[in-house]
Amino acid sequence: MAGTVRGGLSRRGLISSVGAGAALAGGLTAAFVGDAASSGNASAVDDLSYPFEGAHQAGIVTPAQDRLHFAAFDLDPRATGDDLIALLRDWTDAARRLCAGSGAGPVGPLSGSYDAPPDDTGEAIGLPPSGLTITFGFGPSLFTDADGVDRFGLAARQPDALRPLPHFPADKLNHLASDGDLCIQACAQDPQVAVHAIRNLTRIAMGRAAIRWSQLGFGRTSSTAAAHVTPRNLFGFKDGTMSLRAEETPAIDEHVWVRPGEAKASWLVGGSYLVARKIHMIVETWDRSSLREQERIIGRTKAEGAPLSGGKEFDQPDFALPGRGGQPLVDPTSHVALAHPTHNSGVRMLRRGYNFVDGNDALGRLLAGLFFIAFVTDPRTHYIPLQTKLSQQDLLSEYLQHIGSGLFAVPPGVGPGEFVGQALFA
Ligand code: HEM
Repeated sequence: MAGTVRGGLSRRGLISSVGAGAALAGGLTAAFVGDAASSGNASAVDDLSYPFEGAHQAGIVTPAQDRLHFAAFDLDPRATGDDLIALLRDWTDAARRLCAGSGAGPVGPLSGSYDAPPDDTGEAIGLPPSGLTITFGFGPSLFTDADGVDRFGLAARQPDALRPLPHFPADKLNHLASDGDLCIQACAQDPQVAVHAIRNLTRIAMGRAAIRWSQLGFGRTSSTAAAHVTPRNLFGFKDGTMSLRAEETPAIDEHVWVRPGEAKASWLVGGSYLVARKIHMIVETWDRSSLREQERIIGRTKAEGAPLSGGKEFDQPDFALPGRGGQPLVDPTSHVALAHPTHNSGVRMLRRGYNFVDGNDALGRLLAGLFFIAFVTDPRTHYIPLQTKLSQQDLLSEYLQHIGSGLFAVPPGVGPGEFVGQALFA
């Protein structure tokens, strides 16, 4: 999807349009506007905006932005089907505005009644859209809860693929930081813009849904556009070399979008499945292993990301090429050998993960890792078999611990006047 330089009223324009009159209504507000207007940290690329409407939701094949705020929500136990629809309408309206660089509400952070809470929290005043995308997903528990109860009359439309992910060997999941009825992925070049989006969508949901868990991410660990230079993950290796690129349209159609077939999943055609895995990377142990061992475990060179069988970063690995002692140059239990499509029935995935650091533990170890996100056409063919294999055989798994997990159906894009997931309720 091409980015556009947005027109219309921007958050930056907002300052000049509401002017000092409204801004100076309170001393605190004036100071806040002054700070934002002079922050000057927006580059030209931050003026990019991606349209919220389209055939597919933005934030999937959109070139991966640098920052992430991801949140999973649970609906209030008293919420009704009508509440759910009203929430999705309100979220869609707000997301349209936010992605265009405006405030979350129609009035804005500064122009409403002085005696009422503003309909936007204000921390993005002065900031451009920063390539913000907001992507919504529906978890299995929206359809049937853990006790098998059809909470909103949607069970008959629950796709067979939308079931909680199985327990994988060595999973150490925190169930309070996994799953959820709904999810929102907000990505932007500026972390403040992504956080502002999630914060305001959370505020809008108040009384109907609340955050169950959330995750901040930085330094995208994926390359989703040909123009991207491959970034590095916290093990120091290039990550995303072989991820699907937006330009590979036939492969995206095959491996990312849900196709017609299953009647009860007709509402999801043109959508996708989002797999989220919070993976703690035990960096202290990794940092004590030799460069030779690190490269053997990944199957690629650390410098260039080239296959250990030779060539350059984007050359295909030769898994049969023998090295010293007749052993393959790429270890068959390396991460890349196990994950490569030739060893997985041709399966590819669009990986769109982010690094995270959630502080440290009492022993001074970093709580760092990869917030893995993949968009796939069907988790039963495109994620579960590979994850099962990796968790049993991957040399890398000694340095990893999966601590959070979620699977969400991502409805197709939204047309004018529609709300996200509307076809589910038709
Ligand atoms: C913290 C955990 C992980 C780390 C550090 C990691 C790291 C890497 C690295 C460095 C590469 C090579 C460059 C590239 O092609 O992107 C790679 C490739 C890949 N990874 Fe991971 N990965 C992790 C978890 C996963 C998981 C959970 C999956 C899926 C279940 C996965 C699937 C893949 C796939 C499909 C490839 C491309 C293989 C190819 O076509 O050559 N990775 N990963």
